[in-house]
Amino acid sequence: MIEQKPCYILAIESSCDDTAAAVLKNDLVLSNIIANQTIHEAYGGVVPELASRAHQQNIVPVVDQALKKAGIDKKDLSAIAYTRGPGLLGSLLVGTSFAKSLSMALNIPLIEVNHLQGHLLSHFIQDEHPTPNFPFLGITVSGGHTQIVRVSSHFSLEELGTTLDDAIGEAFDKCGKVMGLGYPAGPHIDRHAKEGNPAAFKFPIPKAPELNVSYSGFKTAVINFLHKNQQKNPSFIEENLADLCASIQYTLIEIIFEKIKRAIEHTGITEIAIGGGVAANSGLRNKLKDAATKYNWRVHLPPFAYTTDNAAMIGIVGYFKFNEQRFGALDQSATARLPL
Ligand code: KG4
Ligand code: ZN
Repeated sequence: MIEQKPCYILAIESSCDDTAAAVLKNDLVLSNIIANQTIHEAYGGVVPELASRAHQQNIVPVVDQALKKAGIDKKDLSAIAYTRGPGLLGSLLVGTSFAKSLSMALNIPLIEVNHLQGHLLSHFIQDEHPTPNFPFLGITVSGGHTQIVRVSSHFSLEELGTTLDDAIGEAFDKCGKVMGLGYPAGPHIDRHAKEGNPAAFKFPIPKAPELNVSYSGFKTAVINFLHKNQQKNPSFIEENLADLCASIQYTLIEIIFEKIKRAIEHTGITEIAIGGGVAANSGLRNKLKDAATKYNWRVHLPPFAYTTDNAAMIGIVGYFKFNEQRFGALDQSATARLPL
């Protein structure tokens, strides 16, 4: 039998504030390097202009490190995969231009990847976990997106529901900001919530039609609630931080969880896979694990390394596209609002 030559993909992700590069040998990750941009912490959110400048500084050393860690020489690469969108245009342009130039210089194919597809297909990266079976429901919970997606094959993804306003991660970050927590606030809320009572404070669940969700009204309700209580007691937040975090986290999760339940009833699909930064949240992970036992669902939780933005997830989509020769063109450009 003739052994098939392995495929080596260099993947590049620069859609927001993480400059990332990974090398994959087929579906196996050989290296996964991320340079986080700490500069945004001082502003309590991502400053697009600063993000693109930092990508410009980071991209060469990050790619260099990814190749070295993988033990791969540039000339052994089979293709370059890059995030075309969605994301911040100035950030995407850095990764896109770099990927195009390198693919031209090495004379190897260029593969465009949708960032959202990357989050959901990260479950197909080779590890000890079983991969999802088609069709499954992909749940993207990140700083920029909140989506319920029917995934019928690697390339057939249909959005069933989305947020009508803010993303769940954005709601975590904005609520954390008003409580004086650092950026991004999601992991801080997660940590404090472990010590608090999720039933201490009751917040409303905003209504949204069908399988859509809404988060902006919730954020306003939290801000008003905090201001009202601070007027009576200026140390209200410090004295109740753990309970506040636990109650806020509980409600943010409940909003999406209700729609996941409804999506399962509606489609009859009981296998789900979550992706995106908020997939690292311990409250959400535990809730889904419990639901798997209670309702007999099959739930896939990504390893922590593949929850927040990374290039390995771009590489796995690149690998599937390489196998089907779905290559991109050199005149393609970064696209800030790229649908699934
Ligand atoms: O997927 P991601 O890295 O970037 C986007 O594509 O948006 O997600 C970043 C988001 C941020 O809003 C961050 O606060 C949130 O993921 N996040 C978390 C946790 N870790 C990251 N939210 C809640 N709990 C966490 N443990
Ligand atoms: Zn993301």
